[in-house]
Amino acid sequence: MINETLDEIRKKALDAIAQAADPDRLNDIRVSVLGKKGELTGILKSMKDVAPEERPKVGQLVNDTRAEIERVLDEQKQKFEAALLDAKLKNEVIDVTLPAKKMRVGHKHPNTIALEEVERIFIGMGYEVVEGPEIEKDYYNFEALNIPADHPAKDEQDTFYIHGDLLLRTQTSSAQVHEMEKGRLPIKMISPGRVFRADEVDATHSPSFHQVEGLVIDKNITFADLKGTLDEFSKKLFGAETKTKFRPHHFPFTEPSAEMDVSCFKCGGKGCRFCKGSGWIEILGCGMVHPHVLEMSGIDNREYTGFAFGVGLERIALLKYEIDDMRLLYENDSRFLEQF
Ligand code: DAH
Repeated sequence: MINETLDEIRKKALDAIAQAADPDRLNDIRVSVLGKKGELTGILKSMKDVAPEERPKVGQLVNDTRAEIERVLDEQKQKFEAALLDAKLKNEVIDVTLPAKKMRVGHKHPNTIALEEVERIFIGMGYEVVEGPEIEKDYYNFEALNIPADHPAKDEQDTFYIHGDLLLRTQTSSAQVHEMEKGRLPIKMISPGRVFRADEVDATHSPSFHQVEGLVIDKNITFADLKGTLDEFSKKLFGAETKTKFRPHHFPFTEPSAEMDVSCFKCGGKGCRFCKGSGWIEILGCGMVHPHVLEMSGIDNREYTGFAFGVGLERIALLKYEIDDMRLLYENDSRFLEQF
């Protein structure tokens, strides 16, 4: 009788284990068959009905059944665990034969390359690099540079006004004034930075671009120093065979003033499409610092003289890298930037 019941419990349990879909279900079976109130435990309680001489045999049978169910339960549990691990590993698998993701390497902007080169040349000649503010008072951008309130030069540089006498500087020349005001002489500095003009965007104009200002003030500085310095700069920037030419010009803050051209580094001065047939390329404005400018910043113009120059950074970048549209410098198209 007990034998039959045991056999039934065993079959039922093994069937249930075989059909279990997950480890939780196995646990339920373990509790309902082997647990304190489980079916198999129940059998042990009915041992008192068994004839004493039969008891060891029946007890052995119960234990065997229990051991078998436990073993099958454990086996099944291990199968579930192995399947789980397998799925996890499959998920995490790394295919080492796949091509690696290409790391994109950044590039220096042509403006940056040009600026670094200009700085390197002037630092090599003993210049200091000084930065001035982009937001300026009218005084520093115009007045102290000999451009009074109704001077026509003020209209030439369409200015972004902020309010009152605050504006966005139209030229890095304003940095000259800050440097002179410090009262430390002699001065030998360049000042690179962003400038702003209310210009429409086209191939050669932008409302925001960059200049590098230069200023030298000392005793006995002459126009020969200016020419020698800028000639040397041009040869270092565009090549040793570069020639320079100074054309008279007008700037309110210098007297005399000039514009400097360099011989075309494409055709060597013979004339080509690049220099529009003239053999020369205009590079910068320069001149001897106007005595009135020195005086306004508190420098004794009987003892000190100086020269100054201002060069457009974009202009140098465009020329050096033969870029024919300034807009390319501001669009940050990586296909363009990657070429430098
Ligand atoms: N500030 C001038 C401009 O923006 C450039 C310039 C010309 C600067 C002559 C100078 C200079 O220092 O001496 O057009």
